[in-house]
Amino acid sequence: MKIPIMMPVVDEEMKAAALNALQNEKMVLGESVFRFEEAFAEYTGTKYAVSTNSGTMALMLAQIALGVKKGDKVSCPALSFIATANSILHNGAEPVFFDISSRDGNIDMAKVKHKGEKAIIPVHLYGNMCDMDALAEYKRKNNVAIIEDAAEAHGAIYKGKKAGSFGDIGCFSFYSTKNMTVGGDGGMMTADNEETAKKLRKLTDCGRKTKYEHDVLGYTARLNTINAAIGIVQLKRLEEWNKARRGAAAAYSKNLPKEIQLQYKEGCAYYTYTIRLKDEKQRDMAAAHLEKEGIMTGVYFPIPMHLQPIYRERYGYKEGRYPVSEKFSKEILSLPLFVGIKDEQIKLICEKVNEAINQ
Ligand SMILES: Cc1ncc(COP(=O)(O)O)c(C=O)c1O
Repeated sequence: MKIPIMMPVVDEEMKAAALNALQNEKMVLGESVFRFEEAFAEYTGTKYAVSTNSGTMALMLAQIALGVKKGDKVSCPALSFIATANSILHNGAEPVFFDISSRDGNIDMAKVKHKGEKAIIPVHLYGNMCDMDALAEYKRKNNVAIIEDAAEAHGAIYKGKKAGSFGDIGCFSFYSTKNMTVGGDGGMMTADNEETAKKLRKLTDCGRKTKYEHDVLGYTARLNTINAAIGIVQLKRLEEWNKARRGAAAAYSKNLPKEIQLQYKEGCAYYTYTIRLKDEKQRDMAAAHLEKEGIMTGVYFPIPMHLQPIYRERYGYKEGRYPVSEKFSKEILSLPLFVGIKDEQIKLICEKVNEAINQ
């Protein structure tokens, strides 16, 4: 039997919640949407949460709400899902990339020098939080806004506080493979500032001041009620699921050699369990060896964003510009991690990884 890399959980309560919302609530901006937002804000320890229809949209609207305009600069790590950088381009702003640390794939704050950007988007890659102390210091010194890309970090904790509660705005994705989903695409933006939250709401809801009066250029970017209803149930399970993820990650760490392990911080939400092999050849060999046994793996992400065709074409980026990101993308491999993965499966996967690296 195949071992998938990720697997969303759908249970009877989620199905019933979806059906109930469909039959009894307004399909758009129904009661479940507001209940989900309240529960999410409480969970992350922020005052407000505003839902939207994807993580990408959350990142885009967060920048608009914080005053990012055409021609402004916004920074982010060179290695992330393309949505991080695209959200900057969508607003007509210019992405400034920073290289990552090979220890964990997160933005390397030791190498970050302010390039005049209005906002920085740290990405908590694989559910592992960035150095939020260094980021707070960076914000203070350079007067930049922080937009956390917490698309992979629902429930991750840094020094007792949850992901999404550090930045001016925290952005989450509920895409189906994430630590929690809404049964399809969806996103959430968290904030402590009331004005910011109001702006975010307006931006998601056609720029409405009143029903047919529009005073900002808004979008139709709301989360559907049926998805919010599923999200409420998923959020209730998140702590238990993250505990299971942390348990599975500990089992991986116990059974794999230290030199291929990333440095995951305590409190990591383990969206993935990712290892770093010696080089691309060994990584590809390991992936092929595991696949032969029916074990699925993934590479997040095989091409750093600056080397994606659209960024190469627009800005003339070439290989060698962000060397750590480029090397890292060739060496990483994510192993199966989902709620319900069995100890025997983890043991088998580790055995196969060990075989591959000792070949
Ligand atoms: C780091 C990161 N940022 C942004 C996104 C975009 O989220 P979405 O797919 O919901 O638009 C994702 C995931 O898809 C992601 O992994």
